[in-house]
Amino acid sequence: MSNSFTVKSTRRHRLHPATLRALHWINALAMILLIMSGWKIYNDEVLFGWLHFPEALTLGVWAQHGLQWHFFAMWILMVNGIVYLAYGFSTGRFRRKLVPIRPAEVVAEIRKALSLKLAHGDITHYNAVQKLLYVGVMLVIVLQVVTGWLLWKPIQFSEAVALFGGFQAVRLIHFLGMAAIVGFLVIHVALALLVPRTIRAMVTGGPLVDGTSAAPAE
Ligand code: HEM
Repeated sequence: MSNSFTVKSTRRHRLHPATLRALHWINALAMILLIMSGWKIYNDEVLFGWLHFPEALTLGVWAQHGLQWHFFAMWILMVNGIVYLAYGFSTGRFRRKLVPIRPAEVVAEIRKALSLKLAHGDITHYNAVQKLLYVGVMLVIVLQVVTGWLLWKPIQFSEAVALFGGFQAVRLIHFLGMAAIVGFLVIHVALALLVPRTIRAMVTGGPLVDGTSAAPAE
């Protein structure tokens, strides 16, 4: 007998709803523009004498032009990122998909990866390493936006710059953040290419999955 007072009903929705997909791809494009234009700016005044990025991988005709690209992409990334965070928290997606992250599961997952026993069966759940990488890259991106603003407006934010240890220290942190994001991107894209179904799902939405909502039962 069905109970008409049941408050939990199951609503089916795509694994990656259209809003999430749009936010993800806008973020990816903005991030690639930021990395390439950032390399152009870096090449103009390097932090490490031995490190110059190949010109073919940079964006901008000269450093100042690269800087204009960098600001353009920064606004897109920042606004898109704020909407993504608001979406992730308000819809409960972060709670459902990205937590909890248990250290023991992270270790077990790394062991599996090292012994080449990674399972790719279920694309509807992120494993502990994926969760850690996604939350980690989000935190690094926030740090990149903050340190980027400090480098752009060092006079207005002079106290914050001092807090980080001065202008050159902020430059170094911004550089290390870029390196972490590029590292993430290499692993992220390689893993996605290993399981092409995940890329299709991030383009078309993927399988229908159950979601719970507080609506009266049929
Ligand atoms: C730096 C740029 C990028 C960042 C910061 C990023 C970040 C993320 C994050 C946080 C998620 C989880 C989203 C969620 O479920 O709420 C995700 C998923 C995904 N991303 Fe990216 N991404 C980037 C670029 C790319 C690129 C270039 C590709 C191309 C292959 C890609 C392919 C995917 C796929 C296929 C998923 C779903 C993963 C799965 O189902 O296991 N991403 N990405």
